[in-house]
Amino acid sequence: MAQKLFLLPGDGIGTEIMAEVEKIIAWLNSQGETEFEIDTGLAGGAAYDAHGVAVTEEDVQKALAADAVIFGAVGGPKWDSVPYEHRPEAALLRLRKELAVFANLRPAICYPALADASALKRELIEGLDILIVRELTGGVYFGEPKEITDLGNGQKRAIDTQVYETYEIDRIARVAFDLARTRGNKVHSADKKNVMKSGVLWDEVVRGVAKDYPDVTFEHILADNCAMQLVRNPRQFDVIVTDNLFGDILSDTAAMLTGSLGMLPSASLGAPDPATGKRKAFYEPVHGSAPDIAGKGIANPIAMIASFAMALRYSFGMVTLADRLENAIAAVLADGLRTGDIAQDNRRTVGTEEMGAAILKRLSA
Ligand code: NAD
Ligand code: IPM
Ligand code: MN
Repeated sequence: MAQKLFLLPGDGIGTEIMAEVEKIIAWLNSQGETEFEIDTGLAGGAAYDAHGVAVTEEDVQKALAADAVIFGAVGGPKWDSVPYEHRPEAALLRLRKELAVFANLRPAICYPALADASALKRELIEGLDILIVRELTGGVYFGEPKEITDLGNGQKRAIDTQVYETYEIDRIARVAFDLARTRGNKVHSADKKNVMKSGVLWDEVVRGVAKDYPDVTFEHILADNCAMQLVRNPRQFDVIVTDNLFGDILSDTAAMLTGSLGMLPSASLGAPDPATGKRKAFYEPVHGSAPDIAGKGIANPIAMIASFAMALRYSFGMVTLADRLENAIAAVLADGLRTGDIAQDNRRTVGTEEMGAAILKRLSA
């Protein structure tokens, strides 16, 4: 039976990198390796320009009905002054919330060929394999009240609210411990329990979950120290579980260990449906729409292609195909192909299309 993919390329480099994934899907379908049915919608500034909203109701419904959503990136200076509720990023937050994809997996691995492209020394990052498990549908991103109030005396007050309930922490912690069992068997939980009540509850709940996983090493770490340790000695980490905001920041830090933000994919998963066992899922690169390089055809498509590989793995159980696609990425890097963001020395760099084509060629070889 055909499987439904809903593509939301978004803005800026989002459309450029999604085009490379579309070519891979078309090839897989043409070979009979997959039977993906593709539908494409608008998100972010593109949707605002066409419909005056960051994402239309119709596209939200299509996302809900799809077997997986593949998302590019949204945002850009063009939409800096649109009303807050219609800003491009609102599309992303609405889709994450509606799909209830609370578990955001952000793997940061160091491809051997890129060990010298990292901001850190080769000795520190060779063999790096970290998984950040970011809570994605709660915390300060969504807590109420969230407002700016005019105090009437020339002053304003802005409020964002960090809220977590036990069940939200419990379920993300279980995702982290379950995944740790499939890899390095170690979980660090990062919070600010020294300052925040939500941190105190976070730690209490994660420690409780840790008791159910006596075979997995558990360590608590304060989030600020975690940021520092990621740069000092990143290989001490296996799985890091953390809240929505800390996870956002720590994953950009982790990205730079791998050489570029353009390398980091992500998968956002919901709870399994009790009847079918299927999870809602949303796949997107960790990076944004990169307005500084948009339209130039030089964006690195690897984070986007690797996000699609995660879709093959997590939504469709196509583990061998996912491995093949990831191996194709590694092989192309080993061959010396580089987009500008991961270029070392004075090596010739390639554009988005050339990188995408090389990966597809390897996959089809
Ligand atoms: P960004 O991730 O777009 O870019 C940061 C830097 O990394 C830029 O110099 C950019 O050129 C570079 N970069 C990012 N992806 C790259 C790639 N694939 N290849 C080569 N270089 C790449 O972050 P920003 O500039 O802070 O934000 C730009 C816009 O994107 C903002 O509107 C922001 O809200 C939005 N954003 C969206 C998402 C998303 O849609 N998931 C994520 C982050 C930021
Ligand atoms: C990310 C982005 C988003 C976030 C923004 C664009 C809403 O930075 O996916 O990392 O903060 O979650
Ligand atoms: Mn981010």
